[in-house]
Amino acid sequence: MPLQLRKLSHALGAQVCDIDLKAPLTESTFGEIYQAFLDHGILLFRDQCISREEHIAFSRRFGPLDQHDSLPQDRHPDFPELLLVTNEPHADGSASNSRYTGRQWHSDLSFTPIPSMGSLLKSWIVPEVGGDTLFANMTLAYEALSLGMQQLISPLHAIHLSGTRKINHTASGEVRAEQQRRLNPPIAQPVVRIHPETGRKALYLGEKVRRFDQMTAPESQPLIDYLNRHATRPEFVYRHQWQAHDIIVWDNRCTMHQALGDFDETQRRHLERTTVMGTPSGYVVASE
Ligand code: OGA
Ligand code: MN
Repeated sequence: MPLQLRKLSHALGAQVCDIDLKAPLTESTFGEIYQAFLDHGILLFRDQCISREEHIAFSRRFGPLDQHDSLPQDRHPDFPELLLVTNEPHADGSASNSRYTGRQWHSDLSFTPIPSMGSLLKSWIVPEVGGDTLFANMTLAYEALSLGMQQLISPLHAIHLSGTRKINHTASGEVRAEQQRRLNPPIAQPVVRIHPETGRKALYLGEKVRRFDQMTAPESQPLIDYLNRHATRPEFVYRHQWQAHDIIVWDNRCTMHQALGDFDETQRRHLERTTVMGTPSGYVVASE
């Protein structure tokens, strides 16, 4: 039976209905899922009460998984393939490292020389309301630019930095950001990437970008701001309202996403992510 797909928004995304990820998936059904992933940029599977092992096994169908050496503090203690995105305090009562993960527009691991091709995020506990995630279609955003702008940006590389500087201004947040920076030197990534499977061009930017390579930050900032604002216009965006036991897989090569802080932070929000490895991209630069 062909997959039952329901579009999530005009811009991107589809829900895969009538699939139970606990049941074995044939190669041909997985092939349809993979094609839908390429076609829609993100896929949603609802009501998937699967274990961590099953989450990891399903993720491996998409490709080899990252062990999260670039983000060691946020790894699950027993499963290096799982990255925690949680506001659950540590056992000693201190705040979680990952409570602000993703609170800016980004594509996963863009600040490393092997950016992720895709991520699979599973929600375990979600707040009563809010804690939504936004996703933007960077292929549409690129295609909506004028030819002149497309030509202007095509040779540019942008320098991506790790760490969530904008939000995490506490002392412990600064220490963590410093560790992140030591582990992950600045990387220049192409501003326009060609998707290795679909061949389509997509913008590759976000709010971890500081400046264009060989240009100063003040020279770069207006164009970076313009492109990020353009790419995240509502017509290019899907806003996901989580339910417990959702799984979303997104294509990091042609989408970006952002976690919203639109919820009561005394309530729990706990998600876990696997990260499918991509292909090498960009180059290390000497200074940010
Ligand atoms: C991520 C991420 C967003 C969210 O897991 O990569 O950015 O809403 N999460 O938790
Ligand atoms: Mn992310």
